[in-house]
Amino acid sequence: MQYTLAFDVYGTLINTSGVYQTLEKVIPEIAKPFMELWRNKQLEYSFRRGLMNHFVDFSVCTKEALAYCCSTFKIDLSADQKDMLMNEYKVLPAFPDAKIGLENLKSSGHRLFAFSNGSKNAVTGLLQNSEIMDYFDGVVSVEGVQVFKPSPLVYQHFNTQTNSTTSDSWLISGNPFDVIGAAAYGMRTAWVQRSPDTVFDPWEVKPTITIKELTELSSKLS
Ligand code: 2OP
Repeated sequence: MQYTLAFDVYGTLINTSGVYQTLEKVIPEIAKPFMELWRNKQLEYSFRRGLMNHFVDFSVCTKEALAYCCSTFKIDLSADQKDMLMNEYKVLPAFPDAKIGLENLKSSGHRLFAFSNGSKNAVTGLLQNSEIMDYFDGVVSVEGVQVFKPSPLVYQHFNTQTNSTTSDSWLISGNPFDVIGAAAYGMRTAWVQRSPDTVFDPWEVKPTITIKELTELSSKLS
């Protein structure tokens, strides 16, 4: 059966640890806790703005979360250093399994879409830079509905934009909040467990399948 596949971007297709390496150059002694707080606060801001109906470009959540971390850790980064960190998000690398995994799925006849909180422009530029844009039939951004994941409106938006339904589409994500949101909406879901240390939230909502790499997906879609 041909499926329409929605690939989350940051942490699924794209490895955000590239930002970590830059952080290590700037603040080596606290790079890890800083990076973790930055990602968690970036997502918290997107959740809060979604609930508040106060949408902004996802890069604003990223930038404001960076400012929050600087204040929290009492780190006085220069404007250039902040710009350098923000620019890292535009040139992050794809995970090593992305190309071969996407190629297998494309040659099996599935429709592939990148699906992200990020703007269509930002995601397209990122996927072009990491040389995987050609595998995709398109990019769907939540900016079309002015609310963030895991609102059911964004998954519905994905189905509408790609002329698919919950029964012929999958959400593939390394982010448990995203998998749970899509599963609760009614989509089939694949959780990509990028790190053995990542804990899937102990909710009643479970992923359809769990994989470690995108190369496992083709044989497990049913
Ligand atoms: C996304 O790309 C934030 O990883 C999430 O939508």
